[in-house]
Amino acid sequence: MIQKQFFVNGVERNIVVNGKDTLAKVLREQLGLTGTKVGCGQGQCGACNVILNGKLVRSCAIKIDKINDGDSITTIEGIGTPQKLHPLQKAFIKHGVTQCGFCVPGFIISAKVLLDNNPSPTREEVREWFHKNRNACRCTGYIPIVDAVMDAAKVLRGEMDESELDFKMPEDGRIWGTAYPRPTAVAKATGTLDYGADLGLKMPEGTLQLALVQATVSHANIKNIDISEAEKMPGVYKVVTHKDIKGKNRITGLITFPTNLGDGWDRPILCDEKVFQFGDAIAIVCADTYENACAAAEKVKVDLEVLPAYMSAPAAMAEDALEIHPGTPNVYYVQNLEKGEPTAPIFEKAPNVVEDDFYVQR
Ligand code: FES
Ligand code: FES
Repeated sequence: MIQKQFFVNGVERNIVVNGKDTLAKVLREQLGLTGTKVGCGQGQCGACNVILNGKLVRSCAIKIDKINDGDSITTIEGIGTPQKLHPLQKAFIKHGVTQCGFCVPGFIISAKVLLDNNPSPTREEVREWFHKNRNACRCTGYIPIVDAVMDAAKVLRGEMDESELDFKMPEDGRIWGTAYPRPTAVAKATGTLDYGADLGLKMPEGTLQLALVQATVSHANIKNIDISEAEKMPGVYKVVTHKDIKGKNRITGLITFPTNLGDGWDRPILCDEKVFQFGDAIAIVCADTYENACAAAEKVKVDLEVLPAYMSAPAAMAEDALEIHPGTPNVYYVQNLEKGEPTAPIFEKAPNVVEDDFYVQR
């Protein structure tokens, strides 16, 4: 253990830490600043961004022993509060960037460093910044994020009144079809919304900690799941598999329309017979500490018959493709296409024409 003295959001902190812990872990677990999220934990996604001495850094990738005494760290909690939002936070709310919201603190921190160094960025420079710093958002899409940064920059330059970022209730009071902020938007933009890992840190002492055993292949038949060694690992209370699920080990979503060829009950809660995608949950280890749960999760042995991985819709639609969900055709729903007028005359006038096959998500 080592003693460290540094500043977090302007407050001097004097703490004893394990030098091998990451800055993210110390911020979240010792200082309770759970606005700093950990997504990948491997320096890839930017969810854990903080500002260290004016520079953007990934707190999951910095060991606390690399923080020098007297260093200054800013987390999302130091940018603004629910009562006093920073223009970036207001703009992210206004532009609907707060979807699941998990990436938002990291994006706002990143944007803060950009605007501190370049108060008048072009849209391209904002895009380039997020690209260079590899900020990832899996649900909002990036256009509203750039819109939000451009608006916040205008407010900070004094070219736009901050009140323009506030939602104005229509006179008739109807919010349908408006940009009414979702109820959790402020909490997401300020890092005060608790996600699973945050709640896990706020449970009473003695609460079991969980680690998932996840598939590391994209498609396979499961021949056996052996938990015997994992059960004997230190601190393990239980290893939960599909056999422990009460009732039907299946979940369904919005895929039960009569036009679909499946019955909608093809997804297991915990995998039993097949792995359908990389990361599928196979078992849950419950232990006294997260570290013990993770160590035991490594000992769960999953015997697989690996099957061809279909990484695109066209691959899964190929005639010789295996049925991914046995009993349900891979083409389980057909969307009619309206093709409209032929575009050939437009092509003839175009200076350049590119033709190819393209596919998108569902
Ligand atoms: S959690 Fe640190 S970069 Fe993804
Ligand atoms: S809002 Fe969900 S990851 Fe960005």
